[in-house]
Amino acid sequence: MTIQWFPGHMAKARREVTEQLKMVDVVFELVDARIPLSSRNPMIDDIVKQKPRVVILNKKDMSKQSETDKWMQYFKNQGFYPVQIDSKHGKHLGELMKAAQAATKEKFDREKSKGLRPRAIRAMIVGIPNVGKSTLINKLAKKSIAKTGNTPGVTKKQQWIKVGKELELLDTPGILWPKFEDQTIGKKLSLTGAIKDSIVHLDEVAIYGLNFLIDNDPEKLKQFYQIELNEEDEVVDLFDQIGRRRGMLKRGNEIDYESVTELIIRDLRNAKIGNYCFDIYEEMKDGLYETKEH
Ligand code: G4P
Repeated sequence: MTIQWFPGHMAKARREVTEQLKMVDVVFELVDARIPLSSRNPMIDDIVKQKPRVVILNKKDMSKQSETDKWMQYFKNQGFYPVQIDSKHGKHLGELMKAAQAATKEKFDREKSKGLRPRAIRAMIVGIPNVGKSTLINKLAKKSIAKTGNTPGVTKKQQWIKVGKELELLDTPGILWPKFEDQTIGKKLSLTGAIKDSIVHLDEVAIYGLNFLIDNDPEKLKQFYQIELNEEDEVVDLFDQIGRRRGMLKRGNEIDYESVTELIIRDLRNAKIGNYCFDIYEEMKDGLYETKEH
């Protein structure tokens, strides 16, 4: 489901998350490991403020490991507790528990020194749509909890899910908006399925994807679609080659560009061509450290 984020919705989503935050010791900020920066809510630091934060790079199974490792270090340097997991297959959830403990250690030590009884850590998940919030909640709960729907403002009575003895998780995630004003980010969000419909033009998304492959993995691109890459080729020539190879033709032997576009996007979204991280650390790092201190 695509959310139309209007200022009113954004304000309401923010208010809801701010309310929920009061109930928790730690925030699990979920991002897509393929776009660890572009899949963040632009106001997340303002919203979460000083609350301890575990940044979860989810869908690690579809990202490029060496890039994910660089982003892990980046988030660590920012004072967060990053982990990389694969919610769909329930992998590395133990590391998430460890990170939650590390993030809350100070608070719990303080409580202990005041003579308070040990208790479970309380956490909530926040993130933009489609980064895997429901999948993670269900995995941690070890059962299927109905999805609230990606609609901010749809409230229901919140409940705590017990995850072992040590963690209690709010069953309703905080859904925040992505940074959609930036065209490049919009394309990356579309390529990873965070935005499924046409906030950005799909042909531009496919072109972006092909250019990414030409720059970062040309051999795989050639091999996967059985095409040739020649110096003088324009990206549109690659659409032609792929269309012909796959028999995506219309009447009169014309290339069916719409089908080729959908194919390229689908293959990238599902990591069929390879595992990629579209936020390339080396290319983005210069602008990074201007961000706020915590
Ligand atoms: P949300 O609550 O944040 O909106 O996201 P949700 O859990 O609905 O997950 C969005 C999509 O991402 C789902 O795929 C889900 O299976 C997939 N996903 C979540 N975590 C991971 C992960 O760690 N690895 C991989 N590979 N995929 C993950 P879908 O295509 O919408 O549904 P389905 O085909 O899986 O049923």
